[in-house]
Amino acid sequence: MAIRPVLRMGDERLLRVSRPVAHFDTPELHALIADMEDTMQAMNGAGLAAPQIGVGLRVVMFGIVANARYPDAEPVPQTVLINPLITPLDAEIEDGWEGCLSVPGMRGLVPRHRRLRYRGFDAYGKEIDRTVHGFHARVVQHECDHLDGILYPMRIRDMRNFGFTETLFPGEPAGDD
Ligand code: NI
Repeated sequence: MAIRPVLRMGDERLLRVSRPVAHFDTPELHALIADMEDTMQAMNGAGLAAPQIGVGLRVVMFGIVANARYPDAEPVPQTVLINPLITPLDAEIEDGWEGCLSVPGMRGLVPRHRRLRYRGFDAYGKEIDRTVHGFHARVVQHECDHLDGILYPMRIRDMRNFGFTETLFPGEPAGDD
């Protein structure tokens, strides 16, 4: 498969609302997912949404093993999530630092629901239904936002908490996601 260019903030395609996947387990869908996996791995990202490689379908992927950039983050299983539906479980909102492959070199403090349930399908049309919290919940919200044309800087409440990673966090290993 192939590493695809990741669109950057300012590209109008990142602002569109993506459409649901209608057919599962097709060669086209598997090829898209393989390209997304290659691209995410090549850029050392924690997650990627199809619109970030210019494909307007409701497909996201995410996952984190131990990562030096997220020392406090619990591992998140490698997941392909299609046509996702997020349901917050309560009103609790938590701030946390985020980055994005489409906003390279920057980080921002973003409010997200702390606890949620998410449902959707894998590439074969098998149902996914998980109840998660913390960093896992944050990653899901970030990636699913891409499907509605929302980039994390749009959610920052106090723009003083938005800046260049190397300035905000000197000494941290470089990386964008
Ligand atoms: Ni992103």
